[in-house]
Amino acid sequence: MTKGHVFLVGFMGSGKSTVARLVAAAIGRPSVDLDEVVELSSGRPVPEIFAEDGEEAFRGAETQALLSLSEQPPSVVACGGGVVLRPENRAALKRMGTVVFLSVSAAEALARIGDVSTRPLLSGAGGALAATALLAAREGLYRSVADVVVDTEGRTPDEVAEAVVAALGGVS
Ligand code: S3P
Repeated sequence: MTKGHVFLVGFMGSGKSTVARLVAAAIGRPSVDLDEVVELSSGRPVPEIFAEDGEEAFRGAETQALLSLSEQPPSVVACGGGVVLRPENRAALKRMGTVVFLSVSAAEALARIGDVSTRPLLSGAGGALAATALLAAREGLYRSVADVVVDTEGRTPDEVAEAVVAALGGVS
């Protein structure tokens, strides 16, 4: 099994949080949700941080949360969908563990999310368009950090988790 953390990256709605819990249980590691680490340290939910302090402030807190994991035991980490935006985050992900990109189409991501009110970047007018544009802008970044790519389209979280565990077996 791989050294360091296992980081799940991918778009909102790609299933990172659910799959992280399933993979963690399967390989006997703790699971960590990076958005929850940010929420715990700032004492507010993510949409409130966006509304009150703006996206850049959230990104700063997200970087701090990511770097803080270097002192934690090897875990399976569900990252926020925008973690790949900052070059320093991309370097930290590569340095600190194995990165798994869970790919999904914008249409399926939106269908899975359903209520977008907890996703500030999608909750404005034109959420569907925003999702398509954001995903197109990020796809290359997800692939650039990924050691492994697992397609989640049309698959259940259990099926995706099984594919992730199988793929990790082949990563040193
Ligand atoms: C974001 C994704 C969210 C959260 C924040 C920003 C993004 O996490 O970090 O709303 O920029 O894609 P999830 O991917 O867990 O929804």
